[in-house]
Amino acid sequence: MSRDGVSELTKPHILQVGPYPEWDEVPLNEAFTVHRYFDAADKARFLAEVGPSVKGIATRGELGATRAMIEACSGLEVISVYGVGFDAVDLAACRERGIRVTNTPDVLTNDVADLGVAMMLCLSRGMIGAESWVKDGSWAAKGLYPLKRRVWGRRAGVLGLGRIGYEVAKRLKGFDLEIAYSDVEAKPYASEWEYIADPVALAERSDFLFVTLAASVATRHIVGREVIAALGAEGMLINISRASNIDEEALLEALENRTLGSAALDVFEGEPALNPRFLALDNVLLQPHHASGTIETRKAMGQLVRDNLAAHFAGKPLPTPVL
Ligand code: 8YV
Repeated sequence: MSRDGVSELTKPHILQVGPYPEWDEVPLNEAFTVHRYFDAADKARFLAEVGPSVKGIATRGELGATRAMIEACSGLEVISVYGVGFDAVDLAACRERGIRVTNTPDVLTNDVADLGVAMMLCLSRGMIGAESWVKDGSWAAKGLYPLKRRVWGRRAGVLGLGRIGYEVAKRLKGFDLEIAYSDVEAKPYASEWEYIADPVALAERSDFLFVTLAASVATRHIVGREVIAALGAEGMLINISRASNIDEEALLEALENRTLGSAALDVFEGEPALNPRFLALDNVLLQPHHASGTIETRKAMGQLVRDNLAAHFAGKPLPTPVL
């Protein structure tokens, strides 16, 4: 028997795709027999060995679960995602096998919105460069820091007015920005903001364009060459969703030749191994995919991951199902 009285023999086996903070690892290991995929040197061999015993997968938003992983776990019943985005889970493979999928919505919404707005302010006012100006002695040696662009009173576009987009827009209102948004349809809860169906038209009238769309096959590269060109040399793109929503090659080209003013990015193709061309740019603010990265939110996300798994294995309704 383990500390909490759960028999080791009856604990469901789960596959853990990536690490969690210690405060999640401890209760996860108490409730389940955990197979640590990320620690395995030979991943294919590990999956072949433990897969047949696995009933649940605990993963993270950006890591998801591949078809190969799902197929290796022949008795798999549920996938619990630590994150609101579940685009990295092979949903078709899950549907074919009747596998349930859960995520962690709501608990992270405000933190993600905070980081998006903070990135806009930080980049527009040049705060990273300004700190270097103080620390490297430029202030004393060269005088005043170069002037930057104002935020308040300018025009913001929000591409995707779901939970996170709505919270971004609410915060932008506090900065007296003129707000418009795009979505598949006008939202009844957004009557005070202008609805512009076409993302290119939204970008055209925006100084700041926030990408807050749930990523899917349908939204892949929705921010492509046309949207980027419409945002223009004075415009700023802020992405707190998924890299796949943006044509990254078009974005890099536009930033390099300055047909796009700047970009604040929390997500990248192939992250954490982002394209090194980003590192050479002086018109970007780069963040390590940590929009939900506060202690409070991550604790709530971890709890929800376990609550979903526990509910499933107790035969109870899932708190936050997506499939
Ligand atoms: C990550 C996220 O899951 O919510 C999402 O969709 O991408 C994030 O919250 C987080 O970075 C933990 O890996």
